[in-house]
Amino acid sequence: MYDPAVLSTIHRKRFKTEPTVFCAPGRVNLIGEHTDYAEGFVMPAAINYATLAAISPRTDGKIVLFSENYGEEVSYEASSLPNGPRGHWSDYPMGVLSILSGEGQTIPGFSMSLWGDVPVAAGLSSSAALEVATAFAVTSLTGVTYPGPVMAKLCQRSENEFVGASSGIMDQFISVNGKEDHALLLDCRDLSFKLAPIPHNVALVIANTMVKHSIAGGDYTTRRAEAEAACAIINGHRGGVPFLRDATLEDLEKWGHEMEPKSLMRAKHIISENLRTVAACDALMNGDMKTLGRLMAEAHWSYSKDFEASCVEADVMVQLAQDLPGLIGARLTGGGFGGCTINLVEQDKAEEFTRLLGERYEKKMGIKPDIFICHASGGARKIG
Ligand code: GLA
Repeated sequence: MYDPAVLSTIHRKRFKTEPTVFCAPGRVNLIGEHTDYAEGFVMPAAINYATLAAISPRTDGKIVLFSENYGEEVSYEASSLPNGPRGHWSDYPMGVLSILSGEGQTIPGFSMSLWGDVPVAAGLSSSAALEVATAFAVTSLTGVTYPGPVMAKLCQRSENEFVGASSGIMDQFISVNGKEDHALLLDCRDLSFKLAPIPHNVALVIANTMVKHSIAGGDYTTRRAEAEAACAIINGHRGGVPFLRDATLEDLEKWGHEMEPKSLMRAKHIISENLRTVAACDALMNGDMKTLGRLMAEAHWSYSKDFEASCVEADVMVQLAQDLPGLIGARLTGGGFGGCTINLVEQDKAEEFTRLLGERYEKKMGIKPDIFICHASGGARKIG
């Protein structure tokens, strides 16, 4: 568990000055996968695993970043920010600075110490947490702050335009705007959202398959392109369908035969996932856990079979969960091709569930998974 006091001490010792500390959480997505860039719906929750950024100003015009996780310090000149990535952890903070500078902000010299406990490459948005923590810390020095949704957009742009990953808005949005004990249904078209309380007797159990996930790799981008090709065909026929958000399953019945088979499958997942996500929010708000669980299962198999974004390990993790005490619903969460499953579990069974899932997964796959019981946390904030 993260401790801001520890990072403050590290920063003070290294830079001989008192920092201000900011915190930005990772996230788990309950349902709504690969729908954000199609201007659809997602329902994530921020989690109590986060990136912390301790920042203090400097007078020599340098930007000095220290990562406690990597045990590494790097230095840049505030007056000549890099304009592209170099395949290094500092690309994420530097991307944010580059976008803020493009917005007309003067980036001053500063020292920033970073530390995070969001598992990396696990589909829990460690990169969004790093971007958002940086944005909060740096704008505290420039004095130019933005409303939450704008802040999220700027961080998304840093990932799209600087780092070069074609991700949607979900991760940065929830890291900025998450609320303690709530999931958030986000309409990715206009960024309006609805908060859905997660009942106190429901635990979020996150199970890491230990298969590395990355959205910088080609699969995420390929899926997105395949889905967009299907959208273009529908739009060519009836117009008014700039995004799959605007398409229906009937459209696929009419014009699916003109699509590449893979494109048709991707579109089927996204269109049906939007329907499931809105229905899942209703179910959660009505306390209808049975329906919520069923929708999560349908979402998983749509993601696995039609979107082909799961992997053997995640399918096994989801299947094993079905037989365990207390399960409400389980599915692969995040960008896909590895990473974690999210399991909604009755709180009083969560420990037993976690133990049994770990034992059975290890027995079947020969891999010891990391499984942790989380709760929905608040969004990014200054600490202390
Ligand atoms: C990654 C991206 C998000 C979203 C998910 C899939 O986390 O960063 O924008 O597309 O994958 O739902």
